[in-house]
Amino acid sequence: MARLFFDGDASLIKDRVIAMIGFGNQGSAQAMNLRDGGFRVVVGNIEDEYARRAKDAGFEVVPIPEAVRRGDVVVMAIPDEVQPEVWVRDIQPNLRDGDVVVFLSGYNVYYGFIKPPTNCDVIMVAPRMIGEGVRDNFVNGRGFPVLIGVANNYSGRAWDYALAYSKAIGAIGRPGGVAVESSFEEETVTDLFSEHTWAGAFLFMLAEGYRILVENGVSPEAAILELWASGELIAIAKAIMEKGLFAQLRGHSTTSQYGHLTWGPRYITDEVRRLMRQAVKEIKDGTFAREWALERMLGYPVFNRLWDEVMKSDVWRDEDKLYRALGRRK
Ligand code: NAI
Repeated sequence: MARLFFDGDASLIKDRVIAMIGFGNQGSAQAMNLRDGGFRVVVGNIEDEYARRAKDAGFEVVPIPEAVRRGDVVVMAIPDEVQPEVWVRDIQPNLRDGDVVVFLSGYNVYYGFIKPPTNCDVIMVAPRMIGEGVRDNFVNGRGFPVLIGVANNYSGRAWDYALAYSKAIGAIGRPGGVAVESSFEEETVTDLFSEHTWAGAFLFMLAEGYRILVENGVSPEAAILELWASGELIAIAKAIMEKGLFAQLRGHSTTSQYGHLTWGPRYITDEVRRLMRQAVKEIKDGTFAREWALERMLGYPVFNRLWDEVMKSDVWRDEDKLYRALGRRK
């Protein structure tokens, strides 16, 4: 069993300057939580709309190299695929002996795209929560789960720093919060595994379900509302989190429970198991990471084409009509 931590000592970083590199999903949420908790935050950002948002939110925004020079705790809150070049150019040369570098995912260190400096504590605090949730939970007095890890323990207190940072952003020390002792490898493998297996399959399964229902005479509106647009999924996801994966089924009608239990397992075929094992293999041997790095180097050609295909699909078209009628899209 992994060790679970429910609290930490944030005073370790209370008088330190926290350089938030990036003000996107995670950066903005964590910077605001830290500021509300009385921590000193400076935002390091390139000149773009995120820098403007950070300034509008009242933060001091400086170029990334300057933020790193001023920071004692440097938080890597920019997209994983741009981190290696920013690291080499703007971050590594400006780190000081004894700084604490915080990664929000294990990706770059695990794959060796970033080599942890030997004269700093290098830790991971990876929220299991989207940025919006990081902020909403904080505002509502709740915590959220994080996976923590250590890539370099320069001070001998790197684990304490991981707990201190978890506490400072409001992950632990509050109801619902927990820090799970993990590693850069475990975080990367589990995170990518979800994305490459059930989470992606889920979206495409719903899209396919819409097609099958429509081909059987169901209106696109009824199909889309049944499959994902009604909000029922939110209630189910919440019940799964609170009661458990299968325990929540008791809240469905008995007809629904019987349908789930008889039909659910039929989709778990040997081919699906083979694909899931293949996903782990391609994550661990770096096939996916190389493919994604190449995409970035070439200017995202496949990524853009796939987005294009989705946006031209029948599902997108019919969903767009419905969401406009419902006032969810302009
Ligand atoms: P994001 O996509 O929201 O990052 C935007 C920020 O990156 C902006 O401040 C922008 O100025 C900066 N940026 C973009 N391109 C840049 C470049 N070429 N050079 C310098 N800065 C650039 O990032 P997000 O989603 O917040 O992810 C940040 C980290 O958090 C990643 O390591 C990610 O794996 C991790 N993470 C993200 C979660 C999420 O909810 N999105 C959940 C858990 C971890």
